Amino acid sequence: MNDSTQPGPRLTLRSSASGDAVTETLWSQVGGTPTFELIASEFYRGVREDPVLAPMYPDDDWEGATWRLRAFLEQYWGGPTTYSEQRGHPRLRMRHHPFAVTPDARNRWLRHMHAALDAAGLAPMHDAAFRDYVERAALAMVNRFE
Ligand code: HEM
Repeated sequence: MNDSTQPGPRLTLRSSASGDAVTETLWSQVGGTPTFELIASEFYRGVREDPVLAPMYPDDDWEGATWRLRAFLEQYWGGPTTYSEQRGHPRLRMRHHPFAVTPDARNRWLRHMHAALDAAGLAPMHDAAFRDYVERAALAMVNRFE
């Protein structure tokens, strides 16, 4: 099964065309926790202003929602595993089932994530890998078509 919401293989990068393999995780290469905090908080800044997405989120727990997304993304990219220690197995499709994730909701979600990634200004290879992942994960999350 290829479930794109689950932790996947790490990128293998080389220090130059014929150089040593760089075995660091993407998480550490992009700057670790502060970078993921920036991405998650920029993302939710956009979501809170979004008339379709904002009502889906618990109005009294934006901080919690920001933590859950940030911790999940850190874990996915090879950082601390605090997300699963506190929340268990991600099972993201199941956890999104109560919410109407329509194609419109997915497009909006991605727009806010792209703006957050613009703000983070990752190196081109990491930026491309991150965008590719969220694109596939967001497609997998769609659960309503009306
Ligand atoms: C496609 C459009 C999407 C919509 C409309 C959406 C919406 C939501 C909503 C309403 C919640 C509940 C808020 C909370 O209390 O945490 C949530 C939770 C969450 N979402 Fe999404 N989401 C989408 C895509 C994604 C994608 C692509 C990812 C991962 C790459 C993701 C990761 C998460 C995580 C980690 C949680 C917290 C799960 C938990 O531990 O309870 N979401 N999402």
